Amino acid sequence: MQKDISGQMAGNKTGNSTRGAQDRDPILRVTDLSVFFREGKKRHCLVDRVSFSVAQGECLGILGESGSGKSMTCKAVLGLLDKNFDVTGSSIFDGGELVGASPEKLRRLRGSSISVVLQNPMSCFDPLYRIGDQMEETIAEHMNLSSRTMLSMMIDILTLMRIRDPKDVLRKYPHQLSGGMLQRIMIGLAISLDPVLIIADEPTTAIDSISQYSIMNEFVRIKHGGDVAMIFISHDLGVLSLIADKVMVMHNGRAVESGGVKEVFDNSKDEYTSHLISQHKAVMKRFLAAIHARARQGVQA
Ligand SMILES: Nc1ncnc2c1ncn2[C@@H]1O[C@H](COP(=O)(O)OP(=O)(O)OP(=O)(O)O)[C@@H](O)[C@H]1O
Ligand SMILES: [Mg+2]
Repeated sequence: MQKDISGQMAGNKTGNSTRGAQDRDPILRVTDLSVFFREGKKRHCLVDRVSFSVAQGECLGILGESGSGKSMTCKAVLGLLDKNFDVTGSSIFDGGELVGASPEKLRRLRGSSISVVLQNPMSCFDPLYRIGDQMEETIAEHMNLSSRTMLSMMIDILTLMRIRDPKDVLRKYPHQLSGGMLQRIMIGLAISLDPVLIIADEPTTAIDSISQYSIMNEFVRIKHGGDVAMIFISHDLGVLSLIADKVMVMHNGRAVESGGVKEVFDNSKDEYTSHLISQHKAVMKRFLAAIHARARQGVQA
């Protein structure tokens, strides 16, 4: 039995409405979501009453330092946490409650209308099966294609994700590919199968900067298409300002600030958010100064 990579990837539309972008109801509304980790008799709170929502055509960015609870929040929403964790609060997706829903219902949703790109791509592939077989199984859950069309779709996905020798890659096993390549395959599948909601957890961290740029462009293109709701987790304020309409900043498991991306980045009220933003600006200033210095040297040479 192959691992259920479709559960981590893309799906079909649930036929949501086609109303104007501004007045859409959220497709996902999360209220007071908390995550606790049980260790013996102790119970650690990892996510503390976090609330957010995202509508069709909208992108929510989640920002925060390592360990702040970004991945835990998304895994809790998706039902990807095991029995050592307790999740409380509410998460309504397309009218149905996800907190406390059966693993089967959650698996079906992840395999149909919600696409997930996880931080650790290796965990989403079965080491025993070739990439092509795993991609085929995922696509076949959504579309009924002839084997020739299936092959050309898989090649198109890999080409879109800037993977060279796609035919060769389809014959490989996961351990024969880099983490960045696996991440790109996940992203390619996630965005090609027409989901209602994409949750992307630091989707481009393992990818080189040139591919990162083109893959970010793909995410932005899909977002501008207006059909998909997106949650995009990133450490990178530059990336978030490119794609997100609104952001939630997390610190120690709590949402310390939320709002429109410009409002938060230009006028943050929270001390921690201001610290993150000033750090980012300082790094960008040094980076630009270094680029200008090199350009000047180039002119003098
Ligand atoms: N499997 C686990 N069991 C117990 N605690 C965990 C587990 N995974 C993460 N945690 C803890 O949960 C908290 C939140 O972790 P989380 O993975 O959500 O952070 P993050 O914001 O996604 O960080 P990063 O930016 O490094 O991915 C951290 O304190 C972390 O140590
Ligand atoms: Mg994480």
